[in-house]
Amino acid sequence: MDSPQAYHEYHAALAALRWQLEMGASEAIGDVPVSRFDLPEKSPASRPRRRAAPPPAVSPTAAPAAATPDPVTLARQAAAAAADLPALEAAIAAFEHCELKRGARNTVFADGHPSARVMVIGEAPGRDEDRLGRPFVGRAGQLLDRMLAAIHLDRTAEGANGVYITNVLPWRPPQNREPTPEEMAMLTPFLERHVELAAPDLLILMGNTPCQALLGRRGITRMRGKWDQAMNLPVMPMFHPAYLLRNPAAKREAWADLLEIQDRLRHLAPDGRPAPQRG
Ligand code: URA
Repeated sequence: MDSPQAYHEYHAALAALRWQLEMGASEAIGDVPVSRFDLPEKSPASRPRRRAAPPPAVSPTAAPAAATPDPVTLARQAAAAAADLPALEAAIAAFEHCELKRGARNTVFADGHPSARVMVIGEAPGRDEDRLGRPFVGRAGQLLDRMLAAIHLDRTAEGANGVYITNVLPWRPPQNREPTPEEMAMLTPFLERHVELAAPDLLILMGNTPCQALLGRRGITRMRGKWDQAMNLPVMPMFHPAYLLRNPAAKREAWADLLEIQDRLRHLAPDGRPAPQRG
């Protein structure tokens, strides 16, 4: 780099590019950047004049236009119509009423084997999950794998040692922000159908977001480690692995919760499915 200024400009451009990738930009639409600040302002005369729209003609006998169902109703209908997991995945991928979808690179549906006795539910894809289209593949996911391995569960296994993993949200929220109540309301019907179709023996809820979606409340510090029930299934709320990465001291509680789950799996009357075996 020739001068300090060129060096500075190079790093500023690189940072701007990284930021755009982070925001989900995946395509260049011009060879030369356009600075909208430098474009001449359009004079009022050159702007197309908008005519005031005439009032709609109302016939006294016309039937009222059918109201479009709201996105939550549409989500419920789409979820209920899915007869199996591939149909549910297709229904989510075709759902166009959630803005998050527009900012995401991939729809992240699930990982692991759906016949597993244990279903883990996280919050939403992060950057790595959005890029690869699979849940829990970043640092938090690697910790999750190690935690599950400690009680002989493995997302690559089938049968007794298998585990099935999904999230409340199939699309990454911008900058990993928390889902809004509207997004939760719209996407929870898909999650509930997902649980129904996978039919696990128990659920592990990672952090507040899945607790809010399936138990209707949050407060993971108080809720963790205590069995609850949702959709007629035993539910164990746990600290999210991303929280454990930031607060390693809380791993002690997570370990206790994992042992609880292991114990429950041993004693839960399995519908013909055996308890996890040591690897
Ligand atoms: N955090 C989550 O809750 N889910 C993922 O898939 C990744 C990180």
